[in-house]
Amino acid sequence: MKRFISLEGIDGAGKSTHLPFIQQFFLDRGLDVRLTREPGGTQIGEELRGLLLHKKASISLETETLLMFASRQALIDSVIRPTLKSGSWVVVDRFTDSTFAYQGGGRGLATNKIEQLAHWVHDDIKPSLTFLFDVPTSEAKARIKKSGRELDRFEQEATAFHERVRTAYLGRAKGNASFVVIDGTRSIIEIQSALKSHLMRLCDELN
Ligand code: ADP
Ligand code: TYD
Repeated sequence: MKRFISLEGIDGAGKSTHLPFIQQFFLDRGLDVRLTREPGGTQIGEELRGLLLHKKASISLETETLLMFASRQALIDSVIRPTLKSGSWVVVDRFTDSTFAYQGGGRGLATNKIEQLAHWVHDDIKPSLTFLFDVPTSEAKARIKKSGRELDRFEQEATAFHERVRTAYLGRAKGNASFVVIDGTRSIIEIQSALKSHLMRLCDELN
């Protein structure tokens, strides 16, 4: 399960901006690549995404976490596992590190509970490379505000929540060789250049 890349970071860090560049990197080399996202990426997953991001009624932390994993299970079964098996690359906008960062770091769910779910749902699947887009929360918030987009349940959280999410992400990246922390405050051109060199390294390793 090597051709699997995840993008992570707090809301507004720049993941969606760089997804098309990563896709183009593979297409330019004649390599098949499938882009997808969490929560979502399947019919049931997109319906769960609607609940998770836009439901007005309160959702308990346990329910929220299990719905994230329900969406993930569906995505793994119908997209990630078959696509990797066919030899294509898979690039996912968020994966289980988001649960560790948001439900764990942000909301305080015990790490061992998330580990148990990850073990159950995808013991054999792990990203070979995780790009963690890192920006200060103030910068991320300013960017989201400037973009004028409507805020979802997570984006509406207080700055302290996003600080905890960011800290949790950086904690997970520390000493983990599959993580690459991208300084998201740099220009888009500089970030693309960094992404390219890491993608080239990964392609070389696998060929
Ligand atoms: P995410 O998908 O991580 O939530 P986005 O890619 O949607 O974040 O980026 C949030 C906003 O920040 C967008 O309006 C985007 O144009 C802008 N943006 C992204 N990367 C940069 C960058 N390196 N420099 C300046 N603005 C950026
Ligand atoms: P995202 O796809 O990043 O939003 P946008 O389209 O605005 O860039 O939004 C998904 C949200 O879901 C994001 O705020 C993080 C949250 N999330 C979790 O809390 N836990 C998870 O396990 C996942 C996958 C996402």
